[in-house]
Amino acid sequence: MTAPLIVLVGPMGVGKSTVGALLAERLGTAYRDTDEDIVAAEGRTIAEIFVDEGEAAFRALEKRAVHRALAEHDGVLALGGGAVLDEETRALLAGHRVVYLSMDVEEAVRRTGLNAARPLLAVNPRRQWRELMEARRHLYESVAAAVVATDGRTPEEVTQAALDAL
Ligand code: S3P
Repeated sequence: MTAPLIVLVGPMGVGKSTVGALLAERLGTAYRDTDEDIVAAEGRTIAEIFVDEGEAAFRALEKRAVHRALAEHDGVLALGGGAVLDEETRALLAGHRVVYLSMDVEEAVRRTGLNAARPLLAVNPRRQWRELMEARRHLYESVAAAVVATDGRTPEEVTQAALDAL
């Protein structure tokens, strides 16, 4: 394994990609995103993978992509919002510096509520957000060395808070 990575976890739409790229720039290191790895490898969007093969198949692809990135990458890595559902992935994250970017449900609905590209929010965004947050908050917390709240903060402010927390 390479040196510990800075790994960003947290719900979709919280700003992992934007903050990840900013963090990498500030640290003079490389940025990588496991959702992008999956799309590049599959030649399909995440939404298409969900529709074609279902969530379980996507999770298997995601697990492989995350484990590969953790082994190969050197720098800042953003994980898809559901990557922490996998127990082996959570165990692997123990070797890295994990930052949980958090937001409250209303902020989440504001940011992503109408975004049909996100398959998990297609039906009733507010209810689905509440359920997702309840199911996952403790998983994000369990792997995180630092929690950075993003509500009402710009990506630059979140990036600075993450740097301060690390
Ligand atoms: C998901 C989050 C998405 C993507 C997929 C499932 C989730 O990634 O992996 O739509 O389960 O929370 P982002 O968090 O990068 O949007």
